[in-house]
Amino acid sequence: MTAALAPDALATVNRLADQHRDQPGALLPLLHAAQEALGHVPAEAVPAIAQALNLSRAEVHGVVTYYHHFRSTPPGRHVVQVCQAESCKAMGADALMAHARQVLGCDGHGTRGDGAVTLEPVYCLGLCALSPAVMVNDTLHARMTPQKFDRLTAVQEASA
Ligand code: FES
Repeated sequence: MTAALAPDALATVNRLADQHRDQPGALLPLLHAAQEALGHVPAEAVPAIAQALNLSRAEVHGVVTYYHHFRSTPPGRHVVQVCQAESCKAMGADALMAHARQVLGCDGHGTRGDGAVTLEPVYCLGLCALSPAVMVNDTLHARMTPQKFDRLTAVQEASA
C-alpha cells in the first residue's frame, strides 16, 4: 500500500491537475508541473494524478519511471545536470560525467549522502553549439571543462 501524500503536496497536485486535466496529453505537462512544484514526483502522488486524468496508476507510474527527467525522490540541495546527448558526447561528455561523479561523490541519478548534491545525466540542454553543456540549479554553463567544473562546483559547495 502506498503511503499518503502530505496534505500540502496533495493540494498542490490537485491544483495542478485542475489546471491540466482538460488539456490533450495532460499527463506529461502535469508531471512536469508537479516536479517543478515539489522537486520530484512522489510515488504517493501517482494515485491522485491517475484519478484526476482518468488513467490507471500503472500508466502514470510507467511514464514517471520511463522518463529519466522525472525524479521519484527529493533532489539534493544542488542539482548538477551533465548533458550526455550526441553533440556533448562528441565534445567529451563521457569524461566530464566521470569527472563529475568523482568530484561530487555520487553516481548519475544519485544524491550524495549528505544531501548536498544530486548528479543527473540529461539528454540535450539546448546548448549543442557550445558543447559540452552542464546545468547547475537551472543555470546553463557552456563549453564545460573539468577545470571549469571544479571551480563551479566549489562555489556551489560553499553555499550548500
Ligand atoms: S547535445 Fe548537449 S546540449 Fe544538446
